[in-house]
Amino acid sequence: MLPRLPFCLLISLPVLLVQGSATNSSKMSPAAPTSAPPRPPPPLGDPSWALGLRLYQALRSDSGSVNTLFSPLLVAASLGALGEGSAGNTASQVQDLLKPAAPSKAGAQAGELLSEALKSFTDTNGTSFHLHVSSAVFLKQAPAFSKEFVKKSQSRFRLQHQTLGKGDSKADLKQLHDWAKAGLSGLEGAPLEAEIKAKAGALILANALRFKGLWEREFSEGSADLRTFLGKKYTKVVMMHRAGLYRHHEDVGNMVQLVEAPLWGGKASLVLLMPFHVENLARLDKLLTLELLSKWLEKASVTSVAISLPKANITSTLSLQKQLSALGLTDAWDQKVADFSGVSDKSKGKLHLGGVVHWASLELAAQAGKGDLEDENVEKPKLFYGDHPFIVFVRDNTTGALLLMGALDHAEGEALHDEL
Ligand SMILES: *[C@@H]1O[C@H](CO)[C@@H](O)[C@H](O)[C@H]1NC(C)=O
Ligand SMILES: *[C@@H]1O[C@H](CO)[C@@H](O)[C@H](O)[C@H]1NC(C)=O
Ligand SMILES: *[C@@H]1O[C@H](CO)[C@@H](O)[C@H](O)[C@H]1NC(C)=O
Ligand SMILES: *[C@@H]1O[C@H](CO)[C@@H](O)[C@H](O)[C@H]1NC(C)=O
Repeated sequence: MLPRLPFCLLISLPVLLVQGSATNSSKMSPAAPTSAPPRPPPPLGDPSWALGLRLYQALRSDSGSVNTLFSPLLVAASLGALGEGSAGNTASQVQDLLKPAAPSKAGAQAGELLSEALKSFTDTNGTSFHLHVSSAVFLKQAPAFSKEFVKKSQSRFRLQHQTLGKGDSKADLKQLHDWAKAGLSGLEGAPLEAEIKAKAGALILANALRFKGLWEREFSEGSADLRTFLGKKYTKVVMMHRAGLYRHHEDVGNMVQLVEAPLWGGKASLVLLMPFHVENLARLDKLLTLELLSKWLEKASVTSVAISLPKANITSTLSLQKQLSALGLTDAWDQKVADFSGVSDKSKGKLHLGGVVHWASLELAAQAGKGDLEDENVEKPKLFYGDHPFIVFVRDNTTGALLLMGALDHAEGEALHDEL
């Protein structure tokens, strides 16, 4: 009998809450929204969040990392595609990397969730945001890809298939870089710091993503007066401002605040995490776990918030081999043990992963999508004043998947003097 009681409560509580807020807001002001929109599926059941948080921590444990940005969804989807072309330990290590923190809805496989999320983001392109994405696997001096692998990885994970030329590692790098530039629609990515030395039989996974969100409601630019962004260097930046109703949460114990700003059409949103006071992100980076973040997102409630953000770009070029190895992907890199027998029909004892490289760029600007919305009733707003480093997430509303995760440690602008 006992288990039934909490079950009833779970059902009836949301109904009461929805009714409560609907009657309340209609009395308060005709312009106020009737109820908060439903939340996207939680991060705990999602492979892109599971990989994203772990990869972020691995990247940020290197104290030299600045403006780290990557697409958990693209990395996960490309690894997922390779995983389906592998067997044995190689396959199970990929599966472990993509395992969500909690069972996903209806027990869906990671591969299905990732494939669905990619489709959802691509379909939203042009309304909530402008998005360019490319993913490819490059093959160096190896037997051709199997037809089956090409077909499945292309249709499910949008993976392109390319071969690297016969040249040396410099030529390979140039080929990868040119590919990335096209994928970023002409944007020149930063040079790769790590060297890529592709041996015969190497598979190189590459992702390129460029993102610009369109807010649900436009920000205003304080274009005349520049403000100081207190990052790695103190720089002069244009600040953008908007006061409105946003999901917001303050964790007073950890001195961190979270705000979630919807993008046009409500199909995706930007989540920002920032320490209360001016500090670099080292403390927050260490604190951040998927469990804690999920708790914050769950607790966030719609309230009046005055958001100020720098107009800035975060761009990042990363080689992820070290971090993925540290997270347990070990066999794939080793020519002697890697098993990519599904990638190429004649691959036994040859194919191995030679690199995972990643280009990403996020633009923070003031624009919103086009269309009129009712006025909001903003009262005594909380302040989210982004004049110091913060963490950014872009999540899909429909599937809940994590398209982007990154840190703004430094905003480009005229330097004042070195600090932090
Ligand atoms: C909001 O609802 C609560 C309970 O339903 C009620 O006590 C309160 O007066 C309402 N507030 C407004 C502004 O209507
Ligand atoms: C966001 O997703 C939820 C379900 O996850 C859905 O109910 C809601 O309508 C979506 N909002 C928009 C604006 O698409
Ligand atoms: C998004 O739309 C732009 C402009 O139409 C296009 O160039 C780009 O390739 C699209 N991106 C994706 C991921 O489909
Ligand atoms: C960000 O990048 C875009 C595209 O390259 C550029 O148009 C814009 O001016 C940049 N914004 C800032 C603040 O540098």
